[in-house]
Amino acid sequence: MQRNHALVIAVIIFIVAASIYLSLQQQPADKANDQPDGQHNGAKAREGMPMAAHAGVVGNYSTSDFDPSVYLTTWNFNDLPPKEREKYYKETPLPDGTLIREYWFSAQDKKIEVAPGVFYDAWVYNGQAPGPTVRATDGDTIRIYFKNDGSKPHTIHFHGLHPAGMDGSFPDQFVNPGENFTYEFKAEPAGLHLYHCHSTPLKDHIAHGLYGAYIVDPKGSRAPAHELVMVLNSFDTNFDEENEIYAANTKAFYYMNNPIKVKKGELVRIYAVNIVEFDQINSLHIHGNFFNEYRTGTMPEPNAYTDIIELGQGERSVLELRFNETGLFMFHAHQTEFTEKGWMGAFDVQDAELPGQIENLSSQEVEE
Ligand code: CU
Ligand code: CU
Repeated sequence: MQRNHALVIAVIIFIVAASIYLSLQQQPADKANDQPDGQHNGAKAREGMPMAAHAGVVGNYSTSDFDPSVYLTTWNFNDLPPKEREKYYKETPLPDGTLIREYWFSAQDKKIEVAPGVFYDAWVYNGQAPGPTVRATDGDTIRIYFKNDGSKPHTIHFHGLHPAGMDGSFPDQFVNPGENFTYEFKAEPAGLHLYHCHSTPLKDHIAHGLYGAYIVDPKGSRAPAHELVMVLNSFDTNFDEENEIYAANTKAFYYMNNPIKVKKGELVRIYAVNIVEFDQINSLHIHGNFFNEYRTGTMPEPNAYTDIIELGQGERSVLELRFNETGLFMFHAHQTEFTEKGWMGAFDVQDAELPGQIENLSSQEVEE
């Protein structure tokens, strides 16, 4: 009897020890799923972030040809070194104090990764979806040299004021594969706008990835802020006219694995554009905070102080907020289906005093 007792205790000790050992093994196994190069793959973010609590991506993004973290703060190709940037963007001052801003755009067919291991045959501007963010000051001249290197007729239709011939919407304005067109117009009105292909069938050309953000700063500009561009988009990966992927800036759950770093107390300005196809309404909700909403960014006073906005296709809003608490704060569509299919991310609010964090306080392009 004594011996049986000892045996039972020994077995219990073994089971407990084995489960502790296995649970410890689990963590390195999760980390092993991250890419070894440590680039944009969420390895760092995951250390402090239990992803299992929410549906997220399985595996990691295999390509870095489009980095949603870089895209957030990129306009007028300002992520490129000067020599490289000249190939796509040039600005020339005029005597009246405005600028001529010249852009070199092309359209291509391209496979892009919209979730880890999920590739979509997109149509893109300059190799990326969303296309490059165009940014000017009210009254500047925008000139875009467009070349269609894709397999379908495309255009660039800008929201904003422009002459009829620059609209890129009627069939005689379609730019056929191999052809060129130069768009030229004044940047106006001040606000947050967008551009997209207006070739037909329109839903196909938008759903395939031909769109981008177009920011017109008011003369005198807005207050300095940590500025972020979010194009809310979606992908119909099986071509049944329903989306399988939703995101802010293309890659499902990207900012869950790579939370957007902001500093406690700093002014954060989000340029949010909705271009989701096949669904009537999209939304953007931020946790633990409220923001001022400037619809279309055209008026100096906010329209609302809220924590959620709804946007139909083509609608956009400028949002301003400050985080007064550190930690992780989620943002996502309040259509739960969209959230579960990728349209979910997080802000990582850090103390402003942290060394090495100060240089990003204002990411607004210094041109004034
Ligand atoms: Cu098109
Ligand atoms: Cu439009």
